[in-house]
Amino acid sequence: MKTIIAGGRVIDAAQKLDGPHDVVISGKVIEKITAPGRGRGGSKEKFRLIDAKDCVVSPGLIDMHVHLREPGYEGKETIYTGSQAAVAGGFTSIVCMANTNPVNDNQAVTGYILGRAKEALCNVYPVGATTIGLADQNMADLGELKAAGVVAYSDDGCCVMNAEMQRRIFEMAGQYDMPVLVHAEDANLAADGAMHEGFTSTELALTGIPAAAEEVMVARDILLARLAGSRLHIQHVSTAGAVELIRWAKKRKIRVTCEVTPHHFTLIDEDVGDYSTTCKVSPPLRSAADRTALQKAMADGVIDAIATDHAPHGILLKQIEFDQAANGMIGLETALGLTLLLVRTKKLSLHRALEMLTVKPAEILRLNAGSLAPGRPADVCVFNPDHTFVYNEEVIRSKSKNSPFVGWELPGKVYFTLVDGRVVYTGS
Ligand code: DOR
Repeated sequence: MKTIIAGGRVIDAAQKLDGPHDVVISGKVIEKITAPGRGRGGSKEKFRLIDAKDCVVSPGLIDMHVHLREPGYEGKETIYTGSQAAVAGGFTSIVCMANTNPVNDNQAVTGYILGRAKEALCNVYPVGATTIGLADQNMADLGELKAAGVVAYSDDGCCVMNAEMQRRIFEMAGQYDMPVLVHAEDANLAADGAMHEGFTSTELALTGIPAAAEEVMVARDILLARLAGSRLHIQHVSTAGAVELIRWAKKRKIRVTCEVTPHHFTLIDEDVGDYSTTCKVSPPLRSAADRTALQKAMADGVIDAIATDHAPHGILLKQIEFDQAANGMIGLETALGLTLLLVRTKKLSLHRALEMLTVKPAEILRLNAGSLAPGRPADVCVFNPDHTFVYNEEVIRSKSKNSPFVGWELPGKVYFTLVDGRVVYTGS
């Protein structure tokens, strides 16, 4: 049976489309986009109608940076519960990092993840580690990982400190025409740091992580990617200096892209407040000036994509002293709302916001997703940008609740999420 999503404002950045249209879905794919009320085209065929009045109809959102914790840490999240959180947040494709247990550094683990992903509510794409066990000692078999189905390589959570090793990783990834996603943070400069180095860290007597810990690695990896001629993607950019280095590289046509998280463009180091461990993340929340630079770079295109770094942790790792607490916060169910807050305050256009959540991550990872063009998978997100919801613990689908945004009222209520033409989430 066909499905018609009628009466909404269709925004498809990939096709530069923004206006009132009906979206016609046939089976698992988009059949066509028509003028409003024309979806049926005079046919007597039965169809399912999805009423998108007052809603935006967008390609399903894509999160190129999540931690699903399976295998190994299923108490925090599983591929299935992560996918439940994803579709509630409007995401139809999620890309999971390799810091599982065992680490996804070989075809057996990749195969396991892809097997579990068959039961997920959305598309799940694994990333393979660049070094065995994320240990920065021996390169993983990148060819084996590609053959097994990873879409990129990354030691996320850790930084490859050995520059010679990183050079070989870029060269090898280039052979396979795959991007390397880097967690750019000098481990020596970051050392035992618990938050951004600045006034607040001094006030709280916490060891700081200087902005330079990120920036030296961004600079190094830009130069190494240029040397190897291969594709570098910088994860969770957090400082103004890193943005400037990426701008420099892009001007020189070095093959670099980057992402920003909703927490880095929303919060700052001062939000750690009274040692709030939900605000402990890696890289840390930075200064107000850094946040402004991130917001500007989102609008001017230096930052390509929005990605959540969804990092579930149980309370035992969060309800402890700040310097002992685990890094990370969940993000799949708040990303759209936090992004729309930037749209509301006119820091970002809605078109650009959705571009960063759909077509850009799809381009970086070459996923068949991120557009509503005819023939593409019918992955769709229908949300009302004006309807708000209160993000409280009862609504959280993720298995973990570690978010500083609990209690926030956010715009962008998701009403329908479709994956391969199937409604996988309905908001009420
Ligand atoms: O805050 C973070 N948590 N940053 C990372 O890079 C890793 C992640 C995790 O796995 O918990």
